[in-house]
Amino acid sequence: MTHFASRVVTWQAQFGRHHLPWQIHRSPYTVWLSEVMLQQTQVATVLNFYPKFLTKFQNVQTLAAASIEDVLALWSGMGYYSRARNLHRAAQQVMQNFGGEFPKSAAELVQLAGVGRSTAAAIAAFCYGERVSILDGNVRRVLSRVLAFEGDLTKASEVNGLWEQATALLPTRNLKTTMPAYTQGLMDMGATLCHVREPECIRCPVALACRAHAGQNVNAYPLKTRARKRSTESVWLLLAQTKSGEVLLAQKPLRGVWAGLYSLPAFASEDELLNATSPVAQSKLRIAPAFKHVLTHKDLWLHVVQFDAVTRSKLASLGGWYSVSSAMQLGLPAPIRKILNTMQPKETT
Ligand code: ADE
Repeated sequence: MTHFASRVVTWQAQFGRHHLPWQIHRSPYTVWLSEVMLQQTQVATVLNFYPKFLTKFQNVQTLAAASIEDVLALWSGMGYYSRARNLHRAAQQVMQNFGGEFPKSAAELVQLAGVGRSTAAAIAAFCYGERVSILDGNVRRVLSRVLAFEGDLTKASEVNGLWEQATALLPTRNLKTTMPAYTQGLMDMGATLCHVREPECIRCPVALACRAHAGQNVNAYPLKTRARKRSTESVWLLLAQTKSGEVLLAQKPLRGVWAGLYSLPAFASEDELLNATSPVAQSKLRIAPAFKHVLTHKDLWLHVVQFDAVTRSKLASLGGWYSVSSAMQLGLPAPIRKILNTMQPKETT
């Protein structure tokens, strides 16, 4: 084993994380599920969603047979909903293309919807001890520092170069035990030591092998590349409520922000919203101050326009009416869930 890999493995045993729920019993299904959740969501949040999801969908068969609505409902609040749609599709691929058993190599795992090279590597390393490197955001940071990697990681060719060097650092012996420990070790170092700012090199098991540390320029890596320009968009949300407390929701189209989720009817401008709601113009109207919801490449400014005591039929063309409690069972974007949460449940039975 390389000196580097053995330092990571030894450190993981002593200082790494060992009690995360997806580490307790590692099956391809649970590892896949947790890795997809962890792709864009922090551990602390995933800890709230993972057990509920697993209770409802205990294996790949039940997930594949579920409706996408049920899957989105349990994903609701974690964001990046294309992950939930891919997860559902991948479960069906496992059933149809692999006879109900997860494939056992990274090369095959990467064929599943929503499973990229790093996620495939994590599953293969954790479950089968395959000698393949993960390279998620945290590990890119760790390894680009260790190697003082000068490439621009917004370019696929440069990422491939880093991947090649990452492969050279992998354990070479006892792979069934070393690959899971090494993979977890890199993740743990990224999460607990090798922070974006002020990494704790003093506690790092590979500080002496780290070229960025030797050059006293750890903060220079990964190389800063021009940030993608963020855009801003305003969305006007119609919060219409009947006397008995039902709210109007509309399913979003399958493309674009919040694809396939249920939302308050959304409009590009206040005028558009007021035009669409002209049949109820005389109902009591309140406009709440706008609030910001941050997406990956966009800031959404959400303006909530509220109508009370609306007659159901007057806005029926804009969506369907739901009691607040049944709305909460649907796949809702996090900010819409928050808005509905603040409403008093006033429905009568
Ligand atoms: N981030 C990505 N995968 C992870 C894992 N298995 N444990 C902790 N954090 C992670």
